[in-house]
Amino acid sequence: MPTYTINANTWSFDDAGKGTPVVLIHGFPLDRRVWAEVGRRLVDKHRVICVDLPGFGQSTLAKPFSIASLASDLHQLLGHLDALPAYVGGLSMGGYVSLAFAKQFAGDLRGLILVDTKAAGDTAEGKAGRLAMAALARDKGSAAVADQMLPKMLGAGAVQSRPQLVKQLKQIMDACPAKTIEAACLAMKDRDDFTALLPGLKMPVLIVVGETDAITSPAVATAMRDAIVGARLVVIPAAGHMAPLEQPQQVGQAIANFV
Ligand code: MLT
Repeated sequence: MPTYTINANTWSFDDAGKGTPVVLIHGFPLDRRVWAEVGRRLVDKHRVICVDLPGFGQSTLAKPFSIASLASDLHQLLGHLDALPAYVGGLSMGGYVSLAFAKQFAGDLRGLILVDTKAAGDTAEGKAGRLAMAALARDKGSAAVADQMLPKMLGAGAVQSRPQLVKQLKQIMDACPAKTIEAACLAMKDRDDFTALLPGLKMPVLIVVGETDAITSPAVATAMRDAIVGARLVVIPAAGHMAPLEQPQQVGQAIANFV
């Protein structure tokens, strides 16, 4: 597995296939495994790069990051890999990084893929929630954060009907170090509000949302679609906030159609 060190943080990533680069960024507190099945569906025709953000998965965290710095470090990584211009997309927190990438490096984007995510920044209540979650990670560890988040992450009924998926998601969340959770909570708390960016986006944009996403709802996704000229919206049936894990076939198809 290749790695690359940028600003003291070592990024791990998968880089497979040939052709137009499609870069996929995981959500919180997850890692690149959430894109594995979708990536498998794209790799025959495209170069698929799935990254672990610093501190997540197999990447290491030596220096704190912001959402904007993640975007600029990713840009540096993709330059190093000779993978620009690229399609860049992300799930939830990965979508925030993708939007920050679009803000800083629009000219290096073939297209933007926003999955179960939103453009708005955190409200005052949201920011307080981030601090509480950082404290929970510090005091009780990652499993306590996973227990708090998990009920909202999967689609309606999935916690009862898809035990294997619940187990897989819990494993990924439990593996996320508490220190990384703290760093990511602070970075998300202070991220930009990207709402004003949307009408000016000139690249093709695909928005994907699970039909029962309880964190970033289809209504939020529809408002983003309406704010971006020419954006395409795909609603994934039988999926919640983890659409790429819950319905990889359908999410893979939506991305394949787009790129
Ligand atoms: C995620 O799935 O990445 C998180 O729900 C993002 C967030 O907490 O804002």
